[in-house]
Amino acid sequence: MEVYVLSIRHATLMKLARASSDLPDVLPHLSEHVIWIELQHLPPIAYHSVTTFDFIYAMAGHIVNRDTAQRQINVFQSDASKVTIASADMSDWPQHVKVTFQDGHETVVPGSIIQNRRLLTATRQRAGLVSQTTWTSEIQSDPPSLNYADVQAGPGMAKLLHKIRAHGFAFVDDMPATPEATQSLLESIGPIRNTHYGGFYDFTSDLSSKDTAYTSEALEPHTDNTYFTEPAGLQALHLLSHTDGAGGQSSLVDGFRAAEQLYKEHRYAYVILSMTGVYAHASGNEGINIQPAQAFPTFTHSEQYKKLIQVRWNNADRAGVDTPWRHLEGWYDAAAKFDAILNEQKNQYWFQLKPGRMLLFDNWRVLHGRAAFTGKRRMCGGYIGRDDFISRFRTTNYSQEELEASTLTG
Ligand SMILES: [Fe+2]
Repeated sequence: MEVYVLSIRHATLMKLARASSDLPDVLPHLSEHVIWIELQHLPPIAYHSVTTFDFIYAMAGHIVNRDTAQRQINVFQSDASKVTIASADMSDWPQHVKVTFQDGHETVVPGSIIQNRRLLTATRQRAGLVSQTTWTSEIQSDPPSLNYADVQAGPGMAKLLHKIRAHGFAFVDDMPATPEATQSLLESIGPIRNTHYGGFYDFTSDLSSKDTAYTSEALEPHTDNTYFTEPAGLQALHLLSHTDGAGGQSSLVDGFRAAEQLYKEHRYAYVILSMTGVYAHASGNEGINIQPAQAFPTFTHSEQYKKLIQVRWNNADRAGVDTPWRHLEGWYDAAAKFDAILNEQKNQYWFQLKPGRMLLFDNWRVLHGRAAFTGKRRMCGGYIGRDDFISRFRTTNYSQEELEASTLTG
């Protein structure tokens, strides 16, 4: 039998002995503070009581404030005897473990929380990851969309956010072509982010803010907010009217698909864009000079699940490239290759926004652009922060147990 203990310092499973008979020699000083948990698919695991205590902290009402879900005890400063587990009842394993503390408090820990602690399931659920489908212009035959009435009812919000996580965007059809309905739907996802342009916007192409978005010019595929340390996660656009003119078709490009193509065709360019920070700025308005806290690369990857999680690309707002002179040409060459991929017709999904059809897209993944237009357009929409967007996805798509298993574990 193999014996493992959860390391307090490194929070990793360490193999301590190969035979159960070794246990008294290996863990003499821990013997009073160890509980044994026979996991269904894993070798027996011994948890040190203090670690276990912190690990299951949220299950115990005397440790965590039930109203705020925050810790009430600092285990680093508490006397260990006060937080020692007296016994663990495994009779309901793998559904639950009943734990009794030495002070008499009892708590029940779902088995899935213990089993999933560092498994990919919990890591993916923390990030609200779903199976992603990257796409090209062919998505025009069946773009992800939901009816407004369905979004308002039952699990509609969960479905909408799931579509956006899977495809990077979704339409909401047959909704009132009003700023009120648009704002209300956005606020049902999360708080609308306030920026130097304001919060919820409702504007015509009058250059009221000094940004090309407020003109009638064509816009190349880009992500918004590259000048922020944290660009908005979700963006909404709803065309309320277009009078006395034509044009203005919108385009979307799947940034993850484009990055995938760059990786396959020009691996070195992908590496350069993943490792080289680029500055950006928003400084067209009086009294405003916004720059991110540091230069961020075009591609950001998750340390935990080794996946691309963010694409930043905005040629109009780009500032300096944080690389020595000798590497600058290499960056420009890599950036030109990515730009060419973004502008391949097969990668651009073109469509016409129309009143009653709201577009929501993931600004960390999908690039947007538009053709020039004539006449007068009235557009409304807004940003939602990435964490608020994922929070709403998680609370609408996961059960309470799944939420806890990917939130509270130590
Ligand atoms: Fe934009």
